[in-house]
Amino acid sequence: MPTHPVLISSDQIQKRIRQLSREIRSHYKNKDLVILGLLNGSLFFLVDLLRHLPDRLEIECWRLRSYPAGHRQSSGKVEGLKEGHGNFKNKHVLIVDDILDTGLTLSSVKQRLTELGACDVKICVLLKKKKKRQRPITAKWSCFEIGDEFVFGYGLDYDGYYRQVPEIRTLKV
Ligand code: XMP
Repeated sequence: MPTHPVLISSDQIQKRIRQLSREIRSHYKNKDLVILGLLNGSLFFLVDLLRHLPDRLEIECWRLRSYPAGHRQSSGKVEGLKEGHGNFKNKHVLIVDDILDTGLTLSSVKQRLTELGACDVKICVLLKKKKKRQRPITAKWSCFEIGDEFVFGYGLDYDGYYRQVPEIRTLKV
């Protein structure tokens, strides 16, 4: 795929995940932690991060959607929140997602977890865009900050494809 330049290589991703996992391990030492992965985008990031985290934690996954197929802009609505399962009451929850863009998805998930009784909710993302968010939300941990470009690979799709591309590439159309 030479037309779509590599933005972040696979080696850079793995190196940064190892750094981040050290911080996460020390932050949650002696706490009951639930990792909540948001699918499909966090698929590879979630698995690679989990390889470096302790065995004693719970894992939940919610399947959400905010981009209509074939679009490069959020629909402004997050689907799938009410179907999300798991016991979050009085738990420390770490949401793991692919990208913090407008902030709509992560702020909706955070609010839902508070309704479900979580005592602490933090966010860990692979990427965060530099732009101004539509919702006031921050990620405690993020691997890389990028510009306002559409990217795919390492879990992120374009129109449902290219998730398994091992690096992150910028879409050029
Ligand atoms: P928001 O806007 O709610 O982002 O912060 C929610 C979801 O939108 C997807 N997203 C992208 N997907 N390339 C992608 O493949 C991108 O540049 C991009 N920006 C946002 C992603 O699934 C994210 O969780």
